[in-house]
Amino acid sequence: MVYAVIMAGGAGTRFWPKSTKKLPKQFLSLFGDKTMIQNTAERIKTLIPQERIMVVTNDNYVDLVKDQLPSVPNDNIVGEVVAKNTAPCVAIAAEMLYKKDPEAVMVVLPADHHIEDPDAFNQYLKSAIEKAESGENLVTIGIQPDRPETGYGYIHGDNTVEEELAGYTVHPVRAFKEKPDKETAEKFLQAGNYFWNSGMFIWAAKTILNEFKKHLPKMYDQVKESSEYLFTKDHKKAVDSFYHSCESVSIDYGIMEHSENVFVVPGEFGWNDVGSWTAAYDLGEKDLNGNVVNADHASFSESSKNYVLSKSGKMISIVGVDGIAVVETEEAILVCKLDKAQNVKEIVQELQSKE
Ligand code: GDD
Ligand code: MG
Repeated sequence: MVYAVIMAGGAGTRFWPKSTKKLPKQFLSLFGDKTMIQNTAERIKTLIPQERIMVVTNDNYVDLVKDQLPSVPNDNIVGEVVAKNTAPCVAIAAEMLYKKDPEAVMVVLPADHHIEDPDAFNQYLKSAIEKAESGENLVTIGIQPDRPETGYGYIHGDNTVEEELAGYTVHPVRAFKEKPDKETAEKFLQAGNYFWNSGMFIWAAKTILNEFKKHLPKMYDQVKESSEYLFTKDHKKAVDSFYHSCESVSIDYGIMEHSENVFVVPGEFGWNDVGSWTAAYDLGEKDLNGNVVNADHASFSESSKNYVLSKSGKMISIVGVDGIAVVETEEAILVCKLDKAQNVKEIVQELQSKE
């Protein structure tokens, strides 16, 4: 049986002030009516019904998940007592699924990505699932890069070997490199046979547990220790003690960089990881001057390519300025150049250090 595991414990700091610790971006509707996590669950519905979705998130967000995804069974929502990045999230989900169904295949999905063409996405996912079902394979979905982005992982595909599954090509992976420096990213871009890691993973629960045994053996032992108590009256205690004991590491650094049986399905479905306000601008509907307005009242004079988000009802006026974001919430106002939108994270860190 195929299950989805939605990773939803991130803080989404680059979307401050809209995204806050209390309400991070995966629970916001930045595009359209539905929130990002709702879209994540919705777009896979033809392959995976909501009853087979697991969500791993922070304890503080469990109620938000219940509200936003009412068809996901409560027992499938895992609350983390402390955030330890994505490897522990995958480990505990794999162990829970393996206990339920030793043949379970898991589709691991970030909660906060935008996908333009969900139908195409599902087709690629089908090939990836087939590859994951057919052996001890770790399957990734690769995106053709168009810039030397250092915020992504890179997948070095072996283009000389290919296999057709469910109508799409699957390549073995020579190496996986998480978040390279600029120089390395430039080289990867030039080389041509590197893909961005979309952050989605498809594998059998038993296969990824074996990878934990090889590459993060301590975490493997810790998750296995909790196993006896999973689905008993001590379930939450066991999950908490796993989180208290395990190290903080991402699945990319902890496992993917070291594994050998990795495959990539190159996909094209309008993927955007919505990493900053720049992405919100790129995805937004533009007026004739290229301004994106999500506000009741806004006016512009000799200003283009700006992004405005305000739900206060106040008039936002921009004069003689190009390429900025203005985001107004009840608590704060952000004014930032769109090409510096990555730095919003630093403001949040500074504010948090003063708390
Ligand atoms: N449960 C849980 N616990 N989820 C988490 C945690 C955590 O401690 N930390 C992050 N997540 C969730 C986020 O909410 C997001 O949905 C997903 O895991 C990925 O985390 P990010 O923090 O957004 O990772 P990233 O964007 O820096 O890098 C990953 O995604 C890139 C593509 O967007 C990597 O997989 C890269 O290789 C990849 O290119
Ligand atoms: Mg991300």
